Amino acid sequence: MQQVLAMLYLWLKAGHVIFVIFWMAGLFMLPRFFVYHQEAPEGSPENAAWIDREAKLMKIIMWPSLVVVWVLGLALAMEIGAFSQGWFHVKLAFVLVLTAYHFWLAQYAQNLAAGVRRLSGKKLRMLNEIPGVAAAVIVIMVIVKPF
Ligand code: HEM
Repeated sequence: MQQVLAMLYLWLKAGHVIFVIFWMAGLFMLPRFFVYHQEAPEGSPENAAWIDREAKLMKIIMWPSLVVVWVLGLALAMEIGAFSQGWFHVKLAFVLVLTAYHFWLAQYAQNLAAGVRRLSGKKLRMLNEIPGVAAAVIVIMVIVKPF
């Protein structure tokens, strides 16, 4: 029984990391899409194609991955009693930052579809620092567990 639970934990962790990769790929790609999207003239067929690509990336990859990462991550946390550990609090704080960023991107995609272009290409490129820094901190927390 003990062995089965240990194996189950590893399978959950593998699933968690696989969907983390899908989610992070989307978090890096979507602002890039926005940059190219905003270079297309308003009302052009290219504009419509970008709206479609962004909606598909969110619907097929990013929303399902967000849910699976959270569900499997919380299952792992419960299994090892992570809620009382310092590294997990820091990890969770940065995962919440990534989750808020995800929701902000979803809102920006909706605005773009409605013709509202709030940020310059340069600012959108700079946004890519957010998932990069957050992922680095999160991975250090789960691997090194410094506290
Ligand atoms: C959404 C909420 C999340 C929760 C609740 C969560 C929770 C956890 C837990 C409890 C573990 C097991 C740690 C261990 O076995 O020592 C784990 C593993 C891991 N998590 Fe998350 N996680 C979340 C999101 C993320 C994100 C966004 C990333 C990356 C950007 C990430 C990357 C990893 C990695 C790489 C591992 C494997 C570490 C190892 O080799 O043991 N997690 N996660």
